[in-house]
Amino acid sequence: MKQLTELFEKNNAWATGVTTHNPEFFTELAKQQSPKYLWIGCSDSRIPATQLLGLQPGEVFVHRNIANMVLHTDLNCLSVIQYAVDVVKVKHIIVCGHYGCGGINAALDGQEHGVIDNWLRHIQDVYHHHQQELDAVQDAEEKSCLLSEKNVMAQVTHVCEAPFIKKAWQAKQDLTVHGLIYTLKSGLLKDLKISRNH
Ligand code: CO
Repeated sequence: MKQLTELFEKNNAWATGVTTHNPEFFTELAKQQSPKYLWIGCSDSRIPATQLLGLQPGEVFVHRNIANMVLHTDLNCLSVIQYAVDVVKVKHIIVCGHYGCGGINAALDGQEHGVIDNWLRHIQDVYHHHQQELDAVQDAEEKSCLLSEKNVMAQVTHVCEAPFIKKAWQAKQDLTVHGLIYTLKSGLLKDLKISRNH
């Protein structure tokens, strides 16, 4: 049987390093979490939410799936958002897409990919919603980048349409929903400037 020896060693070194720097870190963190941010991002291994924000464990509540989708039928994602809003009381929900997204590219390539095609259909719906604008872009990479942005905008709208978000805003809860894009080649985030707080 293959073992995870290397990972356990790395985990041990990490935990030891953290406690050396701050002996109370884990005991304090174990008592409760009160992150200000909910991150909804792509599963892509190159986009680790907490790390790229320069934050620590305990500071970001996270949901990730292929192409950072927020679907009205996805109980997993909706449960995460509702818990983050109603119980954790995050102040910011960040939907973050990224350029060069494999999910976005797969939605564009016209090939069959198996079960994931059902998931990608939702990205194709976004494409059809902006078909004229996207069809006008000839360069494949540029088209993919534009669809990544349109997709974030659509998913931000989906977050804002969730009944418990509307309820939180009616109750004057301090909560803002943001749409961001991450650039793999630079490690930098860009604000799509579509933030909403009511
Ligand atoms: Co992706």
